[in-house]
Amino acid sequence: MNRRRFLGIGAAAVGAGALGAFAVPAAARLLTEGQPGLLLSSAVELPEAFQVPLPLPPVLRPVRSDGSTDYYEITQQVARLEILPGLRTEAWTYGGSYPGPTLAVRAGRETVVRHRNELPVPSVVHLHGGHTPADSDGYPIDLILPAASGRSGDAKGHAAMAGMAGMAGMEHGAGLTLARTTNSDRTYTYPGRQRAATLWYHDHRMGFTGPGIWRGLSGFHLVHDDEEDALPLPRGDRDLPLMLADRAFAEDGSLRYPAIDPALTVPGVTDEYMNGVLGDVLLVNGAPWPRLDVDRARYRLRLLNASNARLYRLELDPQPAGGDALVQIGGDGGLLEAPVAHDAVEIAPAERFDLVVDFSRYPPGTSVRLMNRFGSERTAEVMRFDVSSRPVQDDSAVPERLAAFERLDPAAAATTRTFGFRRSRNDGWTINGRPYVPGRALASPALGTTEIWRFFTDLHHPVHLHLDHFQVLSRNRRQPGPYDAGWKDTVDLRPTEAVEVLVRFTDYPGAYMLHCHNLEHEDMAMMADFVVE
Ligand code: C2O
Ligand code: CU
Ligand code: CU
Repeated sequence: MNRRRFLGIGAAAVGAGALGAFAVPAAARLLTEGQPGLLLSSAVELPEAFQVPLPLPPVLRPVRSDGSTDYYEITQQVARLEILPGLRTEAWTYGGSYPGPTLAVRAGRETVVRHRNELPVPSVVHLHGGHTPADSDGYPIDLILPAASGRSGDAKGHAAMAGMAGMAGMEHGAGLTLARTTNSDRTYTYPGRQRAATLWYHDHRMGFTGPGIWRGLSGFHLVHDDEEDALPLPRGDRDLPLMLADRAFAEDGSLRYPAIDPALTVPGVTDEYMNGVLGDVLLVNGAPWPRLDVDRARYRLRLLNASNARLYRLELDPQPAGGDALVQIGGDGGLLEAPVAHDAVEIAPAERFDLVVDFSRYPPGTSVRLMNRFGSERTAEVMRFDVSSRPVQDDSAVPERLAAFERLDPAAAATTRTFGFRRSRNDGWTINGRPYVPGRALASPALGTTEIWRFFTDLHHPVHLHLDHFQVLSRNRRQPGPYDAGWKDTVDLRPTEAVEVLVRFTDYPGAYMLHCHNLEHEDMAMMADFVVE
């Protein structure tokens, strides 16, 4: 056992004190480095890497705008997409593409998105990282029923309804469901009271978020503001959203997923995948191992890990002379106070890293691979940048000071709460020993107050909070780690780790979610309500 690992277990044991000792499963020792989850292999022959050009998701235009608000419409629909060259994959999409269309909005303006559900299953839309009133946050039983279920005698519709009735915990949430379920469409309102940041929207249906996102229900939502626009950061064609996701395909090109019930009426995956589903095909913006021609100039790469369970350690190969290739300018909640240079970044499910890479540090004609050091064989490579030799202008820069940053004060915290993320013998994945039940809150912070929330874990768990971004205060009773800087909404915990975050609950009362963003853990009940009062 190395020193770091030893300290980790020590700290977690301290964190566990309030809830009694827990045994570290033997498996945890094997999983300390590398991956949670189990690899699901494709049955189809995998395409060669770096053949497909990097796609960029379409940017959605508002259907109308007025003095304060931009209105958008998205139809959730089945689409047959060419993801693997020469094959068709049936996907569940926002507007017919995967990733879904990018929303690019201004801070301070209200965004209203009307979603219509033409999928065969109910859906829920959540804006991840959004500072959103509770009734638009995508509470996991605030379902949009499929348009087809409104027609009497429609078999698919009835199947979907039957599926909902079969969901675990439904008895407890039945009242809420009836009150807040909508027929075929629903309008989500995002007030826009937040700073520039790389957000994303995705399905959040209780028990079925894993298969929903796996089949394609995710897209970018970029918030822009004046503070960021005033900086000389790379922009336009040199500001690229990159959605990383791993998938597995059947021989006919369809997506494989080890759901217990392929009809998706019972949540969860088969036992061996309980710790998470890993695919053997790495997609960036929906394309397998793509390539991109880049100028010898700075680029802003907005990395999002939209994988169900996979953790990546990203590094460029070759490294430019002198290292520090990945200059982090932002995280989940927008710009950092000052840039942080890394040789590699580790990105857990749902996390975002906003990086600037200066390709002028490479000789013309260099092929630079983005590697995943936590992967092996095909999952060790992500994409390739081919550095062009034509001379270009680059006026961009990374200023030493990026943004005003308000550090939350731990002395101002009203209370400290502890949340243990663990597998239980009978209840699947739990928080403080409890599986998710809608309407059962594990915490009720007061609106306007700051609290310290301490998370501790048995295995790998990327922990996510809705409503407000937080700041990491400590990791294993020590300084925050190298990837903990800035405002975050998801923090990755490795086996037996303990992390404390500072969070202030602002603007909106109501029920919000605290959960593991390993989607198989989330679907198998590692989620809780907290109610801001
Ligand atoms: Cu990205 Cu509650 O989720
Ligand atoms: Cu979220
Ligand atoms: Cu988890």
